[in-house]
Amino acid sequence: MEAVAQLAGGVAHDFNNLLTVIQGCTDLALSDLGSKQRGDDRGTLVALEDVQRSAGQAAALTRQLLSLGRRDRTEPHRTCLATIMASAEPLVRRVVPSTIDVQVACGAEQPPILVDPAEVERAVMNLVINARDATPDGGTIRIATRVESLSAEDVASHPDAQLGGYAILVVSDTGHGMDAGTCRRVFEPFFTTKERAGGTGLGLSAVHGIVKQAGGHVRVESTPGVGTTFLLYFPVQSD
Ligand SMILES: Nc1ncnc2c1ncn2[C@@H]1O[C@H](COP(=O)(O)OP(=O)(O)O)[C@@H](O)[C@H]1O
Ligand SMILES: [Mg+2]
Repeated sequence: MEAVAQLAGGVAHDFNNLLTVIQGCTDLALSDLGSKQRGDDRGTLVALEDVQRSAGQAAALTRQLLSLGRRDRTEPHRTCLATIMASAEPLVRRVVPSTIDVQVACGAEQPPILVDPAEVERAVMNLVINARDATPDGGTIRIATRVESLSAEDVASHPDAQLGGYAILVVSDTGHGMDAGTCRRVFEPFFTTKERAGGTGLGLSAVHGIVKQAGGHVRVESTPGVGTTFLLYFPVQSD
């Protein structure tokens, strides 16, 4: 459902841009025609008014789709991971059963990053739901933050990384983990090992997209039978 909402939101965003052009051109054509007031243009006038009305209805429809996908709030601004986690924590706790101990250690303040907080919260929710699914017999999910400055060596070994300071959100679990082959594929759209449980395989590709949009990158470390750690790297805004 969340994945469908996200797809709908993405499509609605592009569609809304097209509608803005259609509405703008119709308004211009109508006012042009109105100022000429030519009798033999009546048919064109009526047709254009129909276009205008339909475009207005379609715009109302995309607003509904946008709020479903929550893409209308894709407004990056300066915030920090501690602030985002403070708002996400209640929801995180609600989706995890009491057999799993949830530990959140994000401090009171973190370096500034430029992100849409709603999108980052959605990324965290996707990671937590995966961690929950990987921990059916109970265990621990830990969410923490740290700050790191990437060296040339780090950058060489991670294709999406760049030199500089990063605020990192770390989500780890003590679940069943993944083998190396699964680990390599987790960010692929539609890759899922939850066929029976109705996985969509879109959660982690969304996480990847959200972090990339913010100029960052994602890393994953996992040991079968021990657990998994996802690290979201967000570039620190220095100015
Ligand atoms: N914390 C985790 N522990 C073990 N495996 C995981 C974890 N997170 C993701 N995975 C693996 O990555 C796959 C893709 O995850 P995702 O994109 O969220 O899709 P879905 O959850 O719908 O399967 C999962 O099916 C699972 O095999
Ligand atoms: Mg998932």
